[in-house]
Amino acid sequence: MTRSRGVPILVGGAIISLFIAVASAAAIDIEPTSATLTPQVLKAIAQVEAEIDRIEAQTVERVTAPPDNQVQQIELLGKVMLYDKELSVNRNEACAFCHMPETGFTGPISELNRTTGAYPGSVRSRYSERKPQTHSYAPLSPVLHYNPGQDDLVGGNFWDMRATGRRIGNPAAEQAEGPPTNPVEMGLTDIACVVYRASQRPYRDLFQKVWGVQAFAIAWPNDVEQVCSRPGPPPVSDSKPVHLSDSDRGRAAATFDQMAQSIAGYEASAEVTAFTSKFDAVMAGKAQFTPDEQAGYALFRGKANCNTCHRDGGPGEDPLFTDFTASNIGTPANPQLPYYLEDKPDALNYTANPVGRSFIDGGVGSFLIKGHPLSEPSVPDARWLPLAPKTNGRFQVPTLRNVDKRPDPDFVKAYGHNGYFKSLKEIVHFYNTRDVLQRCQPNDPGEGTACWPAPESTANMNTKTVGNLGLTDAEENQLVSFMQTLTDGYMSRD
Ligand code: HEC
Ligand code: HEC
Repeated sequence: MTRSRGVPILVGGAIISLFIAVASAAAIDIEPTSATLTPQVLKAIAQVEAEIDRIEAQTVERVTAPPDNQVQQIELLGKVMLYDKELSVNRNEACAFCHMPETGFTGPISELNRTTGAYPGSVRSRYSERKPQTHSYAPLSPVLHYNPGQDDLVGGNFWDMRATGRRIGNPAAEQAEGPPTNPVEMGLTDIACVVYRASQRPYRDLFQKVWGVQAFAIAWPNDVEQVCSRPGPPPVSDSKPVHLSDSDRGRAAATFDQMAQSIAGYEASAEVTAFTSKFDAVMAGKAQFTPDEQAGYALFRGKANCNTCHRDGGPGEDPLFTDFTASNIGTPANPQLPYYLEDKPDALNYTANPVGRSFIDGGVGSFLIKGHPLSEPSVPDARWLPLAPKTNGRFQVPTLRNVDKRPDPDFVKAYGHNGYFKSLKEIVHFYNTRDVLQRCQPNDPGEGTACWPAPESTANMNTKTVGNLGLTDAEENQLVSFMQTLTDGYMSRD
């Protein structure tokens, strides 16, 4: 398996004019662009935006004649907000932009998955340091807690567990509070802007019906439109630039929580967290694995040790293919993350990554020590600070459900926290041979087959259960076949 590691580059006015052509009319005039936004990527972005508009329009229509069932109303509110571009500073980026159904609710643009791994924000020149996770099954993660028996942290959302759920009792809801004001994602400057934008939308009435008429009864300052069309982060001297009375500030915060809880409600709904894969059908006795899938499942639970972290369930335990702990499997850095280049002030004078090329993602450990500079939906609990050294370099075990879901076989998906891996075969080969193959030389043509680059971080790297599995090529393929049975939509839920 060889692959091109070149970043597509296109310079000059061509990008800018193309960008304006696809941007919504309400976008601010000066739109900084990135070297990675090639015409091909811009076209794919425009297609995703159009699909999001289509789904949003359909959902808005359902909002006008909502179901009677209150839980369904909450799910509907969650969906209509998850597909709402207006909740981003330039009115161009819904949550769904990085989480589309055709890829199992992760990144929908093959070319970005193949290269950057990360996705551009509402300010299109800004990228975060990580690959979008799937948001399906995320609401089933427990509130982050310390388990003294395991001497480990369990639960939360995000690769570094930083959406703990300890404030509002729901990690996925606290997660949903991160992207709207993350300067490299949806980019609003104040959570009050998220509430203000929602108050202007056709789902306002349904929101008030579910959560109460106080939700949007806020005296907005005259300059709210203007303040909220400026990309974040806010100036240090004015950290909440929408100036509200103390009680309106409290109300906006409560409404923001309810928006987030509604979004988590949709993510937990049967439409998203479906349990309808071939694996589920086999477990229910309604289908049979092929011989390769069966052999792969046996390896997954046996010789390959996958099941020790990607749990396939047990008595009283849903098969979620994660145990909600964190590990360092030794994933190499992804040199194509645009984040490495974000070390100078951008056109809006914001520097996402002051340390540039020397950035190393410390995962859970760095969340415990310094929070997350870009988005911190939950405050780190200072009492967990002593756990930082042994959680450094570790990332939450992701669910494997829908890990192969893709619109067509040639569509590339990225894997791992930084999107380094580009296929399931490649990551399985890595688990099998990380400690067996030699280190790659610069531009080594054998990368991914005959050699591996150094891990991004060797802190707390697992060397017991992964790295040298002694699997044959055929066995690697069987593991891939098994993971392909985890795609939802194989059976209906009735
Ligand atoms: C620009 C792309 C982008 C946008 C927009 C975005 N996300 Fe994400 N999402 C990501 C990335 C990247 C991660 C992993 C980030 C990390 O770990 O720091 C992620 C992680 C998540 C997770 C965590 C899953 C888990 O298992 O822990 C959930 C849930 C989620 N996003 C939902 C949302 C919601 C809801 C919104 C809108 C309010 C949203 N995302 C907007 C890129 C995006
Ligand atoms: C020690 C715990 C552990 C074991 C054992 C393990 N994994 Fe993982 N797995 C992880 C962690 C942690 C990540 C995220 C790594 C990162 O982001 O750097 C991951 C990531 C993945 C991903 C990428 C998913 C995504 O959405 O990006 C796949 C696929 C995967 N593992 C499959 C397997 C298979 C197959 C096996 C057995 C051969 C296995 N894992 C064994 C902990 C483990």
